Amino acid sequence: MFVVVGVSGGIAAYKTVTLVRALVTNGHEVHVVPTEDALRFVGTATWEAISRHPVTTSVHDDVAEVRHVALGTRADLVIVAPATANTLAKMSAGIAGDLLGVTLLATTAPVLVAPAMHTAMWEHPATQHNITTLRSRGVQVIGPADGPLTGGDSGPGRMVEPEEIAAAAEALLAPRRDLADRIVAVSTGGTREPLDPVRFLGNRSSGRQGAEVALAAAARGARVRLVAGHVDDGVLAAAAQHPSIEITRVSTAADLHEAMRGASAGADVVVMVAAVADFRPQTVSDQKLRKEDGDGTATLSLVANPDILLDLVAHRVPGQRIVGFAAETAADDAELLERGRRKLARKGTDLLVVNRVDWDRGFESPDNEAVLLTADGPVGRARGTKREVADALWDAVAALPPVDH
Ligand SMILES: Cc1cc2nc3c(=O)[nH]c(=O)nc-3n(C[C@H](O)[C@H](O)[C@H](O)COP(=O)(O)O)c2cc1C
Repeated sequence: MFVVVGVSGGIAAYKTVTLVRALVTNGHEVHVVPTEDALRFVGTATWEAISRHPVTTSVHDDVAEVRHVALGTRADLVIVAPATANTLAKMSAGIAGDLLGVTLLATTAPVLVAPAMHTAMWEHPATQHNITTLRSRGVQVIGPADGPLTGGDSGPGRMVEPEEIAAAAEALLAPRRDLADRIVAVSTGGTREPLDPVRFLGNRSSGRQGAEVALAAAARGARVRLVAGHVDDGVLAAAAQHPSIEITRVSTAADLHEAMRGASAGADVVVMVAAVADFRPQTVSDQKLRKEDGDGTATLSLVANPDILLDLVAHRVPGQRIVGFAAETAADDAELLERGRRKLARKGTDLLVVNRVDWDRGFESPDNEAVLLTADGPVGRARGTKREVADALWDAVAALPPVDH
């Protein structure tokens, strides 16, 4: 594989020599792209000797080969280690003033960064904001580790060890195919329960998490049936392009129920991510409800919708795995977990992904944080982009003990 290793100007650059060596030993073609400052820590001769390729910081070398774009477009993976606060800020802003900056903009390959800096720099809101931005664009962040720092201080800021970065790189270069030829049914988005011809009861689900669950499954080789309720603009764009994902659009909880019944027939794994209305209006007016027709008040009678997850569990075919999502508004982690445990026991799913939501968290953000729960207790905690949470979900499904139903 073609791996670009960007190196920026931190003391930890000397450790990146070991990382480059490990990648070369593993058989990859490695191109090192240092920043000018990085060369003050480890020089060109070392990088060239260890990577066995010419090294430059400038976009003006090898212009005939259009090297400034070629490295990024050819890369299967770009690593930045160490990633200084300065380089992270430049990445976040998309600054392309040197070969590393241009390569990072030109690439569509996965990007892995290993930050290294003093704790105060790491914890500064500017750096944290940049990291959040980069994560939201799909950049994988490894570390920093906690421990002794240059200058005698101690705290989060150490670059993780090169062996650990190499292992993360290998995982990104060899995506898991553990769902090859499996059929997966996923629901996503929110439902809308009509009140009259123009109004509905809905919710704030963006559909992003379910779309990422579908994309992550497809990347692992699954054929995916994605049942999507109402989602934010653009959320289904990547899934709609994917040859292994078939999308069915639905609106009400009853539509979603019927579509998921169909999608889960013959599926190996069913994942209910959709935010389904628990209740619907008892009657739907065929005329627009008008203020003028009432006495200034209006009463809405609701009836409970059938529990789709419970129904899918009741109708599961032998060997089928069922995963539920629980969006809870618990005050703390202990209460969140307890609610999750009770829900899992009630629903009988193999796995429950429990996340805390409130007005600012969970729904419309690109990030998520969740506890993965089985009947035996928590089996993992996922924190990061919704794609990272989706991958953690599939890792947890792969790790489930053999099926006994
Ligand atoms: C001895 C020394 C060690 C440094 N270590 C770090 C570091 O670990 N992380 C960091 O963000 N900056 C570190 N800096 C500051 C950077 O070198 C400086 O911000 C530089 O502009 C980074 O440029 P670059 O990101 O283009 O490589 C260090 C500076 C010196 C002199």
